[in-house]
Amino acid sequence: MARTDPAWDTEHLPDQTGRVFLITGATAGLGFFAAAQLARTGAHVILSGRNPNRLSASRAAIMRRVPEASTESILLDVTKGGSIRSAAATLRSRERLDGIILNAGVVHPPKEREEAEGHELVLQTNVLGHFALAGELLPALARTGLRTPGARMVWLGSVSVASWRSRDLAPELEAGYKMARAYVQSKFLVQALAAEADRRLRAAGVPVASVIAHPGYSLGGRSAGIAGVNQPSRLKRFLANLQAPIAQSKEAGATNEVRALIDPAVGPGDMVGPVGRLRGEPRITDRDARNPLTAISAEPEVGAAAWAFCEDATRTVWPFARFGR
Ligand SMILES: NC(=O)c1ccc[n+]([C@@H]2O[C@H](COP(=O)([O-])OP(=O)(O)OC[C@H]3O[C@@H](n4cnc5c(N)ncnc54)[C@H](OP(=O)(O)O)[C@@H]3O)[C@@H](O)[C@H]2O)c1
Repeated sequence: MARTDPAWDTEHLPDQTGRVFLITGATAGLGFFAAAQLARTGAHVILSGRNPNRLSASRAAIMRRVPEASTESILLDVTKGGSIRSAAATLRSRERLDGIILNAGVVHPPKEREEAEGHELVLQTNVLGHFALAGELLPALARTGLRTPGARMVWLGSVSVASWRSRDLAPELEAGYKMARAYVQSKFLVQALAAEADRRLRAAGVPVASVIAHPGYSLGGRSAGIAGVNQPSRLKRFLANLQAPIAQSKEAGATNEVRALIDPAVGPGDMVGPVGRLRGEPRITDRDARNPLTAISAEPEVGAAAWAFCEDATRTVWPFARFGR
């Protein structure tokens, strides 16, 4: 995994004036903090979320922190096909879209199996919704990438994937649903899709990179309190503080998403995660067989199977051929 990893200063990000980024799930946690960090770079930051009140609260919190920021918000529930198509149509009509962070997620799955739009809820939110959204936005990203380099999609992986050993997927978990299994399998599938998207984008010559970010172990209870966005209870703060040696704040976790999105040194096939695996400065690593986080998910057969499943489940075919060089 050793590779050249140029210095990256999370406090002094490169100027992104003129560039446009979309973040899903920007109403809380990592998505909010990533949006706040990007807002300082001069970029136009589009915050998306499923709840209009939480969306207003998070945008207002960013504008309080960074009054000169250029932001807007857009309603987007990643479990709903209609919401995805409508948001994507709005974004495709814009002048440019330089990057998307596919951040929204169910992090604490329900105890019993639930469904959204006919699919298991965690799968639908973390995997299928983002697969459909990224496919819908590929034309906007590719058009921007043809004009200026650096167009990217960032997928949210997880250290928990290192514990996933199976190549036999049962994405819908109709039998044997468990909270942890639903979450880890969803992140395994996300990483498999990121790797497969990378292979297909390169093969078709589409000027958009597919990269993975993972935030280590990032807790709201270790993060700044922000009205309407991050208001952990005293108990949550206490429990989070007990985990201080192995955990970090969501501000720190979000730096991995931001670096994955804007560092010119990050290329197709890369992963960005904390140097100490669970916490620490964001570092670029290869995602290959030697990386325990990606060893199985990066296998082409696994990626092809995950892709076929998602195409079928979402009835979405990514328009690679239209945007190849
Ligand atoms: N925190 C970690 O240590 C960690 C580790 C590995 C990976 N990750 C990944 O990082 C991402 C963010 O995690 P987090 O810790 O920041 O979680 P979080 O604090 O629970 O925030 C999740 C965000 O996703 C949004 N969301 C959930 N369902 C949605 C839907 N159907 N449509 C649109 N937005 C939806 C939530 O919106 P609402 O405000 O409406 O609920 C919220 O903004 C996830 O993909 C997670 O798997 C996190």
